[in-house]
Amino acid sequence: MWPRHKVEAMTDQAEQASAAQSTAPEIPGKPTSASRTTLSHIMTHSDTNLLGTVHGGVIMKLVDDAAGAVAGRHSGGPAVTASMDEMAFLEPVRVGDLVHVKAQVNWTGRSSMEVGVRVLAERWNESTPATQVGSAYLVFAAVDADGKPRTVPPVLPETEKDKRRYQEAQIRRTHRLARRRAIMELRERRVAEGYED
Ligand SMILES: CC(C)(COP(=O)(O)OP(=O)(O)OC[C@H]1O[C@@H](n2cnc3c(N)ncnc32)[C@H](O)[C@@H]1OP(=O)(O)O)[C@@H](O)C(=O)NCCC(=O)NCCS
Repeated sequence: MWPRHKVEAMTDQAEQASAAQSTAPEIPGKPTSASRTTLSHIMTHSDTNLLGTVHGGVIMKLVDDAAGAVAGRHSGGPAVTASMDEMAFLEPVRVGDLVHVKAQVNWTGRSSMEVGVRVLAERWNESTPATQVGSAYLVFAAVDADGKPRTVPPVLPETEKDKRRYQEAQIRRTHRLARRRAIMELRERRVAEGYED
């Protein structure tokens, strides 16, 4: 959970993002396609849960790996997972499925990037079309050698789909900040009212 002063600072950043970026030294933008990545993996018995289908954590690891590769490629250096939200599992994944994890940068802030991920599965030895089995949105922060956030190149959405994803990511960013601000306010109110320390 972000401390309150950070939530406020980030809300301010979001509101002032365009102004801040216009005064910051220019970093050339990078098109979405420059870092878009697909990670593929065949599921085996070692990937299963007690029900015999693939463990959700195995898929989440692949999602984080693919998104991390995209964030590193886009930002041109190390990037760490700051948050993962809206991970949806739409269909079970089975042993023998060839899973494709497709990731791209949807949105960039000052040092953070939202990476959108789609998970597709097809039988490894059949030519039937792959179906979507999951999706996720992750926020990565680009960091320097000391682990401190560093500025990232703005992403340049290319297609109409990229532009829609950029706009949707901005909505999610606003909601993340608003949700955290509301939670911080509730906690402070409960402490002030003597319900919790
Ligand atoms: C992510 C991290 C670098 C942020 O550092 P910080 O000192 O809090 O820096 P800031 O508050 O300036 O945040 C940096 C950016 O990340 C974003 N961010 C930070 N925490 C976030 C979260 N939980 N969710 C979404 N975005 C987040 C901020 O909005 C900011 O974006 P912006 O620069 O584009 O406006 C730091 O918390 C960290 O190192 N976390 C551990 C990451 C890690 O190890 N991940 C792997 C887990 S094993």
